[in-house]
Amino acid sequence: MKFDVIVIGAGAAGLMCAITAAQRGRQVLVLDHANKPGKKILMSGGGRCNFTNMFAEPENYLSNNEHFCKSALSRYTQWDFIALVDKHGVPYHEKTLGQLFCDHKSSDILSILLDECEQAGVEIRLNHGVDRVTKTDTGFQLATNGMILASESLVIATGGLSIPTMGATGFGYDIAQQFGLNVLATRAGLVPFTITDQLKRWCTELSGTAIDCVVSCNGQSFKEAFLFTHRGLSGPAMLQISSYWQAGQEIEINLMPDGSAAEWLEAEKQNRPNTELKTLLSEKFTKKVATLMCQDWFESRALRTYNEPELASISQQLSAWKVVPSGTEGYRTAEVTLGGVDTSELSSKTMESKKVSGLYFVGEVIDVTGWLGGFNFQWAWASGFAAGEFV
Ligand code: FDA
Repeated sequence: MKFDVIVIGAGAAGLMCAITAAQRGRQVLVLDHANKPGKKILMSGGGRCNFTNMFAEPENYLSNNEHFCKSALSRYTQWDFIALVDKHGVPYHEKTLGQLFCDHKSSDILSILLDECEQAGVEIRLNHGVDRVTKTDTGFQLATNGMILASESLVIATGGLSIPTMGATGFGYDIAQQFGLNVLATRAGLVPFTITDQLKRWCTELSGTAIDCVVSCNGQSFKEAFLFTHRGLSGPAMLQISSYWQAGQEIEINLMPDGSAAEWLEAEKQNRPNTELKTLLSEKFTKKVATLMCQDWFESRALRTYNEPELASISQQLSAWKVVPSGTEGYRTAEVTLGGVDTSELSSKTMESKKVSGLYFVGEVIDVTGWLGGFNFQWAWASGFAAGEFV
């Protein structure tokens, strides 16, 4: 059987690409080895799919080539996807920082895509893994479920390696390598840190405690909350900075994100000199946090008894706490995969391989990774749309 376009992967990017191509009149088949389309859409955003971000800009993406994402993001913006959501009457709200979530459930977003697929005449075949891909004079041949299928254009939309239990595979990278395209080393992104050293006691005792902070690593900072867990450090701040962190590096946590720790301590010393440091810290954080700080970091005395260098050292610890994570939880819990198909192999306008005509890559399989907050779906929509216009 011959199709104009075969898309491998019925996730966010693959479905968007299929819709766009089919709306142009192309005959499109989508194959997925899973038993359901869009499994990651369904599990995203805690079940409410953070489907885009109102402030999405190229600056919110990591890639070896920071310019690559610009063209696609500018041709299919967050406002284009919001218009699609509005067209289908799906209610949504801004949670924080421009992040748009469904009011009800993630399946509302998947339903939009499946409705659009149906209207445009896209055929979706589930439980179809692809055993072999070969190039022919007129396009590609695929061996799947004992059949041979052919297409003019082939789109690889198989995503990254995160959450293997949801069907993630390295298929896209294997195909890229089969056709001689460079693939950059991959690692887990937007992932909790694990802690095994003396800080482990803090994680165990404070598990479930969230603290606002500014976290920094390798010149990048995020002002958000972090969370102690039994395994280590999580929460939006840690997930964000994990994408910038390399094994063995330290992260710096400012526990006083809204003002100067030094000025605060000095003012409190003037206002209530007889208050104990531990009492002050338990008002700012929690009693448990203050107890651990005064066991491991500071000697707790009445504020009037601290001299200037002592106050400076306390404020330094509070505003630049250095932590060296032992690792991350890896692909098992990571939201995304960093690295992947080298963008220098692809046209930023069409997502087509520069070496193999008719072969396209879209979505997370490419070395473009967004921050937490709806940016990864926006890349999936934008790159899927970009390819869909040309396949
Ligand atoms: P995606 O992974 O969505 O789809 C790939 C498809 O290919 C899957 O259907 C898979 O079954 C199929 N496939 C894989 N290998 C195959 C093979 N060998 N043969 C056939 N088919 C194959 N992002 C965001 O912006 N907002 C959010 O709220 C969240 N939330 C979130 C929660 C969790 C728990 C995770 C793990 C991730 C997120 N993300 C997110 C990230 C987001 O889900 C991700 O970036 C996009 O789904 C990527 O879209 P793709 O279409 O590229 O891959």
